[in-house]
Amino acid sequence: MPNTILVGSQWGDEGKGKIIDVLTSQADVIVRFQGGSNAGHTVIAEGKKYVLHLIPSGILHPGKLCVIGNGVVMDPLDLLKEIDMLREQGIDLEGRIFISDRTHMVMQWHRALDSADEARRSDAKKIGTTGRGIGPAYGAKMGRTGFRVGDMLSPGFLDNVRSDTEDANKILVSMGAPELDVEEMVATYKSASDLLNKYITDSVSFINNADRDGKSILLEGAQGTMLDIDFGTYPFVTSSNPTAGGACTGSGLSPRKIDRVVGVIKCYTTRVGAGPFPTELFDEMGEQLRAVGGEFGATTGRPRRCGWFDAVVGRYSAMVNGVDFWAMTKLDVLDGMETVKICTAYERDDGKIYDVFPADLSVLSRCKPVYEEMSGWMSKTSDITRYEDLPLKARAYVERLVELIGGQLGILSVGPARETTLRLGL
Ligand code: IMP
Repeated sequence: MPNTILVGSQWGDEGKGKIIDVLTSQADVIVRFQGGSNAGHTVIAEGKKYVLHLIPSGILHPGKLCVIGNGVVMDPLDLLKEIDMLREQGIDLEGRIFISDRTHMVMQWHRALDSADEARRSDAKKIGTTGRGIGPAYGAKMGRTGFRVGDMLSPGFLDNVRSDTEDANKILVSMGAPELDVEEMVATYKSASDLLNKYITDSVSFINNADRDGKSILLEGAQGTMLDIDFGTYPFVTSSNPTAGGACTGSGLSPRKIDRVVGVIKCYTTRVGAGPFPTELFDEMGEQLRAVGGEFGATTGRPRRCGWFDAVVGRYSAMVNGVDFWAMTKLDVLDGMETVKICTAYERDDGKIYDVFPADLSVLSRCKPVYEEMSGWMSKTSDITRYEDLPLKARAYVERLVELIGGQLGILSVGPARETTLRLGL
């Protein structure tokens, strides 16, 4: 398989876990390039359900090598839990997990600061973060005060943990949050560094050597384009770049080594957390999508906001990421709908039409979606194994989506299991 970047094209939760799992069979090395344990990639393999937060979903395929790239913010305690979970499930991890020495760490005080910051925001300003310490950890990275994984190997590591916990405590107290126990933090990170030591790798050389040796690399994104710190609905975004550009800076693989970009996109839209969502449904239809689609966060369990497919978002994502192939997911969730709607543009209250996603949220708040309606197919698609066998109306819907957003359909997913994947050139 050529070197591939896989990104989420909406607000996350597009079903990337399953698509990564499917594409992994053709890859040798799978690299997670951004985000942290805010992500929850659900994979159903051989009847078992796995939810992965940090380790690439490729780990479920024997022999594949998995890298936590430099662009990730990794909570060592979460990673250790995930490693234990996989071991308990009988997955052989020996020699298969590599953590970049340049990866920044989410420390316990980053989590505490994340929650304290959310708690003190007014309702209008709450972001609805996952509480996993993502913003403060990336803040520390950019502020050049962060801890990198490689620092665990240095003799001064625990002294720095002690002094940084003390500093963080001062801020936590000023925010009205409880302090962390300094010695407990030192002991926690001593034990974490002892356990994680063996996974620490110069990932930049590792990935580039693999490429030089003709191995195929799959760069796995978390969250989605509309949650990107630069291209998303700022400030209601995550703190990293889940878009294709982030795959190169988050792994050290040059853009010249990338052969193709796969955009994962759901056949409708969801969002979890606060922020604009033009096609959100507040009626029974939204409830139906949530119930049938099982739209509850894999990390936090929060109900996801649901709405119709938004082609403005799809087109924008195609542009920002340079999507070659779409992996469209969850078509089966629409099986029981008599009619389905697609948002083709936004119309502002003065009649101005937007077919590109605006940066200014005050513009967006004045916009309404322009919909076109199609008739639903009202029959089960989840046991269909060939694209040609889909009901004609279902094909018409999918083909209209692709027509509106450009690019080519590579995968159509009609259910959560590996087997419910229609392959069309990917
Ligand atoms: P944070 O990444 O925890 O700081 O949260 C920032 C925003 O991104 C919130 O609206 C979260 O709900 C959203 N978010 C973060 N990770 C995910 C994800 O994996 N799926 C969907 N939304 C996410």
